[in-house]
Amino acid sequence: MKTIRFDTSSPYYSLALALRYDVLRKPLELQFTAAELEKDKHDIHFALIENEQIFACLTLTFYENERVKMRQVATQESEQGKGYGKTLVALAEQFAIEKNATTIFCHARKTAVPFYKKLGYKIVGDEFKEIELPHFEMEKMLSPK
Ligand SMILES: CC(C)(COP(=O)(O)OP(=O)(O)OC[C@H]1O[C@@H](n2cnc3c(N)ncnc32)[C@H](O)[C@@H]1OP(=O)(O)O)[C@@H](O)C(=O)NCCC(=O)NCCS
Repeated sequence: MKTIRFDTSSPYYSLALALRYDVLRKPLELQFTAAELEKDKHDIHFALIENEQIFACLTLTFYENERVKMRQVATQESEQGKGYGKTLVALAEQFAIEKNATTIFCHARKTAVPFYKKLGYKIVGDEFKEIELPHFEMEKMLSPK
């Protein structure tokens, strides 16, 4: 198993998009919008792969400030609970630190809040709806290891 970092020009992007669709959109009977796919082009993508199979992925969006957004965090359903999500979040945090980010945040589905809490993220603000699901914004201060 290895971790990779890629952009939308990589063949791994379509693998990641398929995983994201299966885990994050299909259960909600939703498709990715053109705007969402366009956004991907400006972002940094990470995945855990083995033998050209993808197990987990996540995306980072950088802004004009020191806050970075983590989004599209997904582990293949049959592989959840094996530490893959945790591994990718740690990798993304390390990358964000190298890019001088000081805070990482995400819009966490309510069901995923315990996962992010375990990794040191704290809820900031009230519950809100996104793609029809209850979410919380969560964040973590980044400090070089
Ligand atoms: C949430 C998700 C990304 C976690 O990835 P994962 O690979 O299953 O997580 P890990 O195995 O790395 O879990 C790390 C720790 O969090 C815990 N954890 C993971 N998901 C959890 C959950 N939903 N509730 C409570 N604890 C959870 C694990 O038990 C593990 O604990 P440990 O370190 O004490 O063993 C994955 O379950 C997933 O894709 N879920 C569906 C899509 C989703 O909700 N994505 C997040 C959108 S914001």
